[in-house]
Amino acid sequence: MSDLLAPVLTANWGQDRSWKINVYESQGGYQALRKAMAMEPDAVIATVKDANLRGRGGAGFPTGVKWGFLPKDNPNPRYLVVNADESEPGTCKDIPLMMASPHTLIEGIIIACYAFNSNHAFIYCRGEVLQPIRRLQQAVREAYSAGYAGKNVLGTGFDLDITVHAGAGAYICGEETALLSALEGTRGQPRLKPPFPAVAGLYACPTIVNNVETIASVPSIINNGPAWFNAMGTEKSKGFTLYNVSGHVKNPGCFEAPMGITMRQLIDLAGGIREGHELKFFCPGGASAPILTPADVDVTMDYEGLAAKGTMLGSKAIQIFDETTSAVRAALRYMEFFKHESCGKCSPCREGSWWTTQIMQRIERGEGEPGDVDKLIDITSNVAGRSFCLLGDSFCMMLNGYIKHFRDEFEAGCNGTPAWELFPYEKSAIFPVASSHGTSE
Ligand code: NAI
Ligand code: SF4
Repeated sequence: MSDLLAPVLTANWGQDRSWKINVYESQGGYQALRKAMAMEPDAVIATVKDANLRGRGGAGFPTGVKWGFLPKDNPNPRYLVVNADESEPGTCKDIPLMMASPHTLIEGIIIACYAFNSNHAFIYCRGEVLQPIRRLQQAVREAYSAGYAGKNVLGTGFDLDITVHAGAGAYICGEETALLSALEGTRGQPRLKPPFPAVAGLYACPTIVNNVETIASVPSIINNGPAWFNAMGTEKSKGFTLYNVSGHVKNPGCFEAPMGITMRQLIDLAGGIREGHELKFFCPGGASAPILTPADVDVTMDYEGLAAKGTMLGSKAIQIFDETTSAVRAALRYMEFFKHESCGKCSPCREGSWWTTQIMQRIERGEGEPGDVDKLIDITSNVAGRSFCLLGDSFCMMLNGYIKHFRDEFEAGCNGTPAWELFPYEKSAIFPVASSHGTSE
């Protein structure tokens, strides 16, 4: 195994029936819960705060700080909602985690709920992914039978229900307020913030929304302590994380490494660029993160390292493209995704994503008009900062990144050259990402 890897969450992924509770317990599973429940709830929150764990869904918000936002004087129930609606293009970490080790997530949920005194947790999972949903349901049943969930958890008098909820399949439902609306049974569209969910979330009650990987990281922090977590990573981005690497590499997949590993090291972990080809550009953090080029391959893959390059870590969905890739076609693929997923609530994003896609389609065909590239920049400058949620800003950041680095390819499409003439399709085929952790039983 490479010494660049830091297997904590992934430590037991390859083991036979790693998703079963007896296998998890035989490897020390649920010991962190026992330890946490012997602590005062506030001490558990302080431990997570001291570890400087930051949200792994994309925003990197400090987890312990978020937990501390729950109002102390609100008499309503409190909820934990786990965002398992993994939808960012190129992201493949939460679903493998839930398939291989659902009890790591469930143990984290119980610890978190004990810490901030919530008696009901929801796991909001993508509706399309039936197998992880079934596996989660099975694991939750096992946790109830073992006395880790339900009435009187481990004889402490603490009660906790865990509900697995299947979403209806919309990217925007990964946005926390749209997710809460969908969970309540209404249309999954973003709500105005503030109030943040910590103050008024599910059913207008105080709610913590955390990503799967974030919550799954909690048991190891309780077991090993904040100093252990702080010993990994960079000055402000601590610990280990799951990086997803896909595209034109020899061995795409999910790699667990300390925060701050460089892009070059991650490409090496993924076996390097496919034989006979070279890196053209990479997307460091999901569809919305502006792309970077080989000049930036030594960037550290943490929140600050990527922000210094004008881009972001996001959900750590790293997509690698070699010289056979048309920048116009890649940007158009993402643009079509954003147009399709725009929820339609606000005009800048709804209209802007449609018009941008139209213009880019004609540029791809080599039928762009003079001035089309400036028109794209003009549209994005009117959408960014004027949309109701981040999705509008996201496609603007994405598109401007491509134009900044590969404007000549966009201009070629406005001068009669279709993208497929410069970059024939058959040369740019991307290897599929393989990931399987057995079947549910
Ligand atoms: P955000 O920065 O608005 O919020 C982060 C979290 O902190 C939220 O839970 C928010 O409620 C909380 N928060 C922030 N300020 C607060 C305050 N003053 N009081 C109480 N709570 C507060 O970011 P957001 O919109 O939650 O996430 C955006 C990120 O999601 C993007 O950076 C993107 O990378 C990522 N993303 C991930 C996807 C995936 O599939 N994993 C899909 C799409 C986007
Ligand atoms: Fe919906 Fe897009 Fe507006 Fe967000 S920015 S509310 S996704 S239309």
